[in-house]
Amino acid sequence: MIGATTGPRVGITGLGTCVPEQVMTNADLAKLVDTNDEWIVERTGIKERRIATQEEALSDIALPASRAALADAGVEGSDIDLLIVATVTPDMMFPTTSAILADELGATSAGAYDLLAGCTGFMYAIAQAYGLLASGMSNRALVVGGDVLSKVLDWTDRSTVVLFGDGAGAVVMERVERGGFLGFELGADGTGGKHLWYPGSGSRHYDGSDSFMKMNGREVFKFATRVMVSSARSILGQCGKTVDDVDVYVPHQANKRIIDHAVAKLGIAPEKTVVNVQKYGNTSSGSIPLALADARADGRLSDGKLVLMTGMGAGLTWGSALIEWTEGAAQ
Ligand code: ACO
Repeated sequence: MIGATTGPRVGITGLGTCVPEQVMTNADLAKLVDTNDEWIVERTGIKERRIATQEEALSDIALPASRAALADAGVEGSDIDLLIVATVTPDMMFPTTSAILADELGATSAGAYDLLAGCTGFMYAIAQAYGLLASGMSNRALVVGGDVLSKVLDWTDRSTVVLFGDGAGAVVMERVERGGFLGFELGADGTGGKHLWYPGSGSRHYDGSDSFMKMNGREVFKFATRVMVSSARSILGQCGKTVDDVDVYVPHQANKRIIDHAVAKLGIAPEKTVVNVQKYGNTSSGSIPLALADARADGRLSDGKLVLMTGMGAGLTWGSALIEWTEGAAQ
């Protein structure tokens, strides 16, 4: 699916994030599995990640992120009429984490649902929210991307535990006077689904014995380097833009080598590229909003900047969006 937006302008008017307090370094991981800091940094760029405690679930980090996004937009939970949580690690399948958040936030008139698209979930969710806002079905949406993949990792499997961390981000989306989303591209290729899977998580073969995510890292790496480039090129072309027009590039934070490959192939200046994988690892659906927040904090993300975001993940799925960032432009 690809499209340049033609309807009313819709943008992001609030942004908030939250990560668990507990830090796990590469040295900490080396005490659990046969690995070391040198291997992890060289192959992934990751130095540390945040890991939820036994008691913490997704909503425990999604709620502070949501509250921060609402405060940033200057609105209340009751002002939201759509609440989407993109995740593969909800508190439980039902009640949905979106319904839990709607209750906690006082968003009593919001339609609320969880959305599954692997690490690409946040990209799918903002595209859906855009559609509902542009059509007039919704007036103001809260979109949350977050995961606590630490809960579904096999902590004896060194090939996966070194990659992932926990985190969440949230954005308020509404109509804006200027700027806003220029277009979206979303895709899925189920033939690659077997390379990144979580077999015991649903109605097939659910016997409780296979309840960890599994990954063929080399195949996911090949897929990621391909789609991070093709998806970005597609959305730029569809919107009549080039890489030179991009001010801020926000790639999914899976692995520094995947980001470096995309940057080199696309010809995007490294200083325009947001990289925080070294401190959070791959936070799945939390990755892009956490990177947006870091870009804003370091002054790169400001009014009028053209931002390219590209995510990829389980499914296999991918998604890109182009947005002209707006501060204080809500209608
Ligand atoms: N520590 C030390 N050695 C390790 C570790 C580790 N943690 N993990 C694997 N190794 C070893 C392997 O056993 C192998 O040893 P061998 O040569 O003796 O067989 C060697 O290191 C090389 O292993 P590779 O798998 O070939 O390493 P590679 O360079 O491909 O890097 C990695 C592995 C980092 C997983 C890479 O393939 C990758 O990043 N893939 C993409 C993963 C990804 O992005 N997944 C998330 C998708 S998003 C979502 O939806 C969840």
